[in-house]
Amino acid sequence: MIRFNPTPALRTTGSALLLALGLAASAQAASPASADDKGRRFYEKVCARCHEADIGPVLLGRRLPPVFFKTIARSGFNAMPAFRITDVDEATLQAVAEYLSTSKPKN
Ligand code: HEC
Repeated sequence: MIRFNPTPALRTTGSALLLALGLAASAQAASPASADDKGRRFYEKVCARCHEADIGPVLLGRRLPPVFFKTIARSGFNAMPAFRITDVDEATLQAVAEYLSTSKPKN
């Protein structure tokens, strides 16, 4: 039987590679311009239909943490429907949450 038994050097290379990939991924997620725009567009197309129409409470300019918006959007809240992964992917919802979290009040 052939066993793959990586040498310590190989293992280090492997974790360095994973680390580099992780850093690349987080650098991409942190790119503010595009994430912001994607978040704003989804908010205006979907969330604003209720949240700027006196159906749901105002979300802009409240300085709430992103996790608040994400959690409520994924679970739903009384009259507000839950947004499943097939309704909004994780990256888009994260962008919406970050956009809302740093948004300015409308008026
Ligand atoms: C179909 C209408 C509708 C849509 C679309 C909608 N919401 Fe809501 N949302 C509501 C209603 C109604 C409430 C108030 C529920 C309550 O308080 O009983 C609410 C509440 C919330 C709250 C809690 C606010 C607070 O002050 O307690 C958050 C956060 C929220 N929505 C986020 C979102 C996000 C993010 C989106 C878009 C991804 C979204 N909602 C889309 C109707 C909607």
